[in-house]
Amino acid sequence: MVVERLPDGITKLLGMGQADSRGVRKGELVDVKVASRSVLAALIDAEMQADVMIGCVLLAVTGRHRGTQIKNSIRCVKDLGIEVQDIVFAPKASAQAVLDPDERNMGALVIDMGGGTTDYIAYDNGAVTHSGCLAVGGDHITGDISLGLRIPQWRAERLKIEEGGARGGRIVLKAEPERDFAGREVDGRLLNTIVHCRVRETFQVVRKRLATHGVRLDSLGAGVHLTGGCSLLRGIDGLAEEVFGLPAHLARGTGISGSASALDDPRYSCALGLVKLGYSLAKPSPVGHDTEEGRPRIGCAA
Ligand SMILES: Nc1ncnc2c1ncn2[C@@H]1O[C@H](COP(=O)(O)OP(=O)(O)OP(=O)(O)O)[C@@H](O)[C@H]1O
Ligand SMILES: [Mg+2]
Repeated sequence: MVVERLPDGITKLLGMGQADSRGVRKGELVDVKVASRSVLAALIDAEMQADVMIGCVLLAVTGRHRGTQIKNSIRCVKDLGIEVQDIVFAPKASAQAVLDPDERNMGALVIDMGGGTTDYIAYDNGAVTHSGCLAVGGDHITGDISLGLRIPQWRAERLKIEEGGARGGRIVLKAEPERDFAGREVDGRLLNTIVHCRVRETFQVVRKRLATHGVRLDSLGAGVHLTGGCSLLRGIDGLAEEVFGLPAHLARGTGISGSASALDDPRYSCALGLVKLGYSLAKPSPVGHDTEEGRPRIGCAA
């Protein structure tokens, strides 16, 4: 995401780029070269949309990134001739996008459930009380559907996105001869059960970890805020309410003007939080190349 701070204090989204995430598995870099190509594709996309040259970025890393993992993440970007201004723990960035200061004071839990990982972070009295990362995400739900309903992985992914999870009845999947899929009928209730089992289990692990680290659920006065691609699963908020016994909200980014569709999409919370943090970090703002008008612009990649 590339944003600009306007003179009136409003932060405006100038553009964003995206590319398929390759060379990464369960939140870990398995092939730096391949991942670097993905980063380059996303950066070029963002540069074209925003009409700027990105010289420097803020980078989000998950809790699974430690030591060499962080070094490799930085290398992915530096190999492209781009400076890493700072690295930010991914759930902290997501929370920055979806929580306001009041909610951080009242106490809140943000869960960002992505493809390969689920990041979470809890706040109370404005401060982080615990955060962490599980190597489980939407890709595992897709895997479960594929196994459980005996359909190819790509069809399972589409079924998950189209049917979401919370619907009964029979679902007819059409044959796609060119993709070698004979088509079949699947049980909507079974689909629902498969999706919900995996999500419930993930939430239960988060709840356990909070308890282990002494975070009381009654300290989370502003409830649970769900974001990341998996928060688009139907019924996921109800599941969170059931597991945590707290009100749960589908959290979307706020505080940036620009393309509403991009800002409404929970998959972009982490990147959105990064660009917001870019302006609140103590260091001088992470300047990319100055624009013709001489206003600094900031490019951030997640
Ligand atoms: N409409 C939808 N309904 C359900 N799931 C969805 C939907 N759209 C995307 N997803 C799922 O969300 C996941 C990707 O989420 P997201 O883009 O937040 O992940 P990511 O940030 O790239 O990955 P990670 O956080 O693991 O590094 C995928 O598993 C995808 O199947
Ligand atoms: Mg993510």
